[in-house]
Amino acid sequence: MPKPSWVFKILTILSLFHLSQAQTTPSCSEVDRAALIGFKARIFKDTSGILSSWVGKDCCSGDWVGIQCDAVTGRVTGVVLQGSSGNNALYMKGIISPTLGELKLLKVLVISGMKKLSGVIPSSFSGLIHLQQLVLEDNSLKGTIPVGLGQLKSLQTLSLSGNYLTGPLPQTLGNLKNLLQINLARNSLSGTLKFPNLGSLEYLDLSYNMLSGTIPTVLGLQSNMTFLDLSNNRFSGQIPDSLCNLKNLVDLSLSNNLLTGQVPARIGQLKSLSTLSLGFNMLKSAFGSFEWGVIKGYPFVIVYRSFLQ
Ligand SMILES: *[C@@H]1O[C@H](CO)[C@@H](O)[C@H](O)[C@H]1NC(C)=O
Repeated sequence: MPKPSWVFKILTILSLFHLSQAQTTPSCSEVDRAALIGFKARIFKDTSGILSSWVGKDCCSGDWVGIQCDAVTGRVTGVVLQGSSGNNALYMKGIISPTLGELKLLKVLVISGMKKLSGVIPSSFSGLIHLQQLVLEDNSLKGTIPVGLGQLKSLQTLSLSGNYLTGPLPQTLGNLKNLLQINLARNSLSGTLKFPNLGSLEYLDLSYNMLSGTIPTVLGLQSNMTFLDLSNNRFSGQIPDSLCNLKNLVDLSLSNNLLTGQVPARIGQLKSLSTLSLGFNMLKSAFGSFEWGVIKGYPFVIVYRSFLQ
């Protein structure tokens, strides 16, 4: 029985559609596809369902969930794999494959909320020299922060919060003069904080680690800083007076440390500040009160409870 002509028409239309797609979007670079397949191979359980879409030759077709490509070159520029923070049933189990370091034109790498994604941050990531965003939040990554991340000169956002990372902050992060945001909260980082001068930094969250020593005076030079959270660490010594130079600061939290001495009086001059948390230290009051809550006469909310020695 001959096929009805409408079937032929639909097939023609479908194949034309396919042809025009192939012309506008070059299929993905074979090197990049191999790097992504290498990642997939190290994940032995994926309840997010993302990786089951990574099939076929063309990783730039739009079918591969989370993959963004340059429309002209067909090189992968973005890998964005986001789990949900609320839903514990969604996760990836396995390790982050070093092959992702072969995605040489990558600008954005986000693998977050995958909960059971373990192993170390591959040292091969130091080769991702075009990377602007590296976000590996809320996984189960172990080991230290690779020294080689200091080679990612274009990096603006570095977030590794919510993992099991240990050791100190690498000194090499001082090379990253374009960094706007650093979030390393909720890890097990330790050692003293030898913080570099990153003039353009706007956001620094190091809360819930085991960092010790004094709070670096140099933090007071980050004039664009709006958010600074060093709470829940083991910082000791005095609050550096230099922090009172941070005119754009909106949130400052230093609570739950081992800080001593007087709270700098000039802190009352920070007009942008909306929250100041100093509770659970051994500070002497500059506010004339040792109670929780709002201290009258200051333009911001102070969460403050002092234990006098
Ligand atoms: C601070 O921010 C302003 C406005 O975005 C910018 O022009 C300036 O270069 C920044 N300062 C530094 C030190 O990066």
